[in-house]
Amino acid sequence: MKLTDFSDDELKTKQSELLGAYSQFKEAALSLDLTRGKPCTEQLDLSNDLDGILEGFFLLQNGADVRNYGGILGIPEARQMGADILTLHPAQVMVGGNSSLTLMYNMIAHMIPRWNAEAKETNSKVKFICPVPGYDRHFTICESFDIEMINVDLLSSGPDMDVIENLLDKDPMIKGIWCVPKYSNPTGHTYDKETVIRFSQLGKIASQNFRIMWDNAYVAHHLTDSPAQLHDLMGESMQAGTEDNLVMLASTSKITFAGAGISFLGTSEKNLAAFEKYLTPQMIGFDKVNQLRHVRFLQGGSNLATHMSKHKNLLDPKFIMVQKKLQEALGDKGIAEWTKPEGGYFVSLDTLPGIASKVVELASGAGVKLTPAGATYPYGIDPENRNIRLAPTFPSLSDLEKALDVLVVCLELASTDYLLSH
Ligand SMILES: Cc1ncc(COP(=O)(O)O)c(C=O)c1O
Repeated sequence: MKLTDFSDDELKTKQSELLGAYSQFKEAALSLDLTRGKPCTEQLDLSNDLDGILEGFFLLQNGADVRNYGGILGIPEARQMGADILTLHPAQVMVGGNSSLTLMYNMIAHMIPRWNAEAKETNSKVKFICPVPGYDRHFTICESFDIEMINVDLLSSGPDMDVIENLLDKDPMIKGIWCVPKYSNPTGHTYDKETVIRFSQLGKIASQNFRIMWDNAYVAHHLTDSPAQLHDLMGESMQAGTEDNLVMLASTSKITFAGAGISFLGTSEKNLAAFEKYLTPQMIGFDKVNQLRHVRFLQGGSNLATHMSKHKNLLDPKFIMVQKKLQEALGDKGIAEWTKPEGGYFVSLDTLPGIASKVVELASGAGVKLTPAGATYPYGIDPENRNIRLAPTFPSLSDLEKALDVLVVCLELASTDYLLSH
């Protein structure tokens, strides 16, 4: 029965039951963490063969020695693998170090002098569109460059394109947009074909030097046997003549080792040449030994699907557990909605308005750390205070089960308080 249909007396009875359950959790002195989307140890173990895989062979087919300096855009074999992952031509791809975030940050740092010059001329500020809920570290990059962020709703088809087109049409200081187009962090949504095609046209509406930051962090991270299909944005953009507006990113952080993978950046050849020039004073090259290890381990990408299905086998029970627990406890109560992702690392949970932070606080009081409410929004401010990102990959299945038991009680308790006071 819906909690929203309860009388005040029924709600009070429910509240005291929930308080009893809550104090039992407190006594149990739990220490559980559902905060960051990290792979679990068993997932990391899937890639242990990276260690020692080169067996002393450091030469590439073109004769280059990966132990030595050089090759800032990456080894050809890894550029080809990145091109296959991102559906690009190898000449459009560079391979970086262990973090695609570093490449994103550097791309913004590379663009910011141009954007700021324009902002100064017009006495305004550089702005970015941020589909929400979204990934907090994208927002942190914007904050670090003092880029103003504009929230736009992420729908199940992708960001609200009507709103985006309208904003770009009106404001020439909007210089970019963050996207996680496949199995989005945190909702799990994949942009549909019409949305992708509309993205390819944005460069025609936006002012000069507009960049779509297409962060395909979960491109290969399926949780079903029939992976979602993401339409080819570079293909569409090249047809539309807007490929300079596109920056694509991915990494092996959640394919091999989160702390020791390789990353990819894809863009037009013209942009890549300019970015190479920007990077050159910083370094002579990224870690090519690790690039070669990855090429060997993933057989140039040809065994990527098999490897990812092993991740899926480890993650499936956890994502199923989240759905089961939420459905059992909250399915008929009318107090929460949540996503059922077909890939990626997260489940996005929406509470009644105004209580997400209370739920997180209650859970913390009972020893369960949740991602801070608001983290999925720019400036850490969720205007409706409703969204909570759940990250089920890292804890063991039994810890996850305990943490979810606590979460649902905290959510029901905060909802009961809310309903009694409204
Ligand atoms: C959307 C998204 N992009 C990027 C990253 C981080 O990628 P990397 O480890 O390559 O820096 C994450 C990690 O959680 C993510 O969720």
